[in-house]
Amino acid sequence: MIDPVPLPATVPSGATPLLTVDHLTMQFGGLLAIDDLSMVAGHSEITAIIGPNGAGKTTVFNCLTGFYKPTIGRLALHQPEGDKLLERMEGFRIAQDARIARTFQNIRLFPAMSVLENLIVAQHNKLMRASGYTVLGLFGLPGYRRAEADALELARYWLDRVGLTDRADDNAGALPYGAQRRLEIARAMCTEPVLLCLDEPAAGLNPRESHDLNEFLRFIRDEHKIGILLIEHDMSVVMKISDHIVVLDYGRKISDGTPEAVRNDPNVIRAYLGEDEDEELPPEVAADLAKGAGPSAPTEGPKT
Ligand SMILES: Nc1ncnc2c1ncn2[C@@H]1O[C@H](COP(=O)(O)OP(=O)(O)OP(=O)(O)O)[C@@H](O)[C@H]1O
Ligand SMILES: [Mg+2]
Repeated sequence: MIDPVPLPATVPSGATPLLTVDHLTMQFGGLLAIDDLSMVAGHSEITAIIGPNGAGKTTVFNCLTGFYKPTIGRLALHQPEGDKLLERMEGFRIAQDARIARTFQNIRLFPAMSVLENLIVAQHNKLMRASGYTVLGLFGLPGYRRAEADALELARYWLDRVGLTDRADDNAGALPYGAQRRLEIARAMCTEPVLLCLDEPAAGLNPRESHDLNEFLRFIRDEHKIGILLIEHDMSVVMKISDHIVVLDYGRKISDGTPEAVRNDPNVIRAYLGEDEDEELPPEVAADLAKGAGPSAPTEGPKT
């Protein structure tokens, strides 16, 4: 295991902070899944969280989105109206009020609903508000009809962005795997988040789909100006599109910086390759890491 080094928690580009994680610790019985993690994610930036299997990446998302209450730590989402302290909020409030959306390591669509319905259901909160939380909405109040039309327009916008307009009426479960992954991101975007958390979105994608995903995430960042937190094992995705990378190993942060800095960080090379500290990496291995070939595998299994 690599000794932790105190690392500054900053945004390397100097972008305005969107999320600040302070001393986050998550303990499961005797297991320290996250050990004193501090990091900052910038506005309109893609911040990747990488690390070997079991490093604690998904646990960070579970703490951010209210699935787990952190043992210790402060999670602040910076908003114009003030900071939202996520560790004090219920999960549904984090989605609704803090506007953090996520996708899961294993796809969680409504497979028996149509592709379009999956995107409308995601806007349930907005529609409920417009209905005044009563059945009156069902009788066609103008406010509700407008909200319904807006929800449909937003769903169609994201369907188009992910190239699924032609499949709008098909069951989500009938889509090919790569399309289901895109639909999950579209569904998360239909909640109009300020922070989008993606857990291994490139897992199982072919090189073409992986390339399209890169373009899509750049589009979301650049055109919609939201922050993206990206957990990913595919280094060809991570190194190409991230503005900032945080590396975890056994729950501890071992590196934090630009893709260039992280790629050349001996701590990262050791964590990924299990290299002896005194040995130099063989040139072909170093080249592989630079290209993005990490040894960790995308993970299968029923994880949250
Ligand atoms: N609910 C839980 N109860 C007990 N242990 C847990 C729980 N959730 C996660 N862990 C443990 O915490 C550690 C970190 O798990 P986590 O799923 O966050 O890793 P990860 O970095 O996402 O790994 P992977 O790349 O394999 O998805 C692992 O040892 C895991 O077994
Ligand atoms: Mg995980």
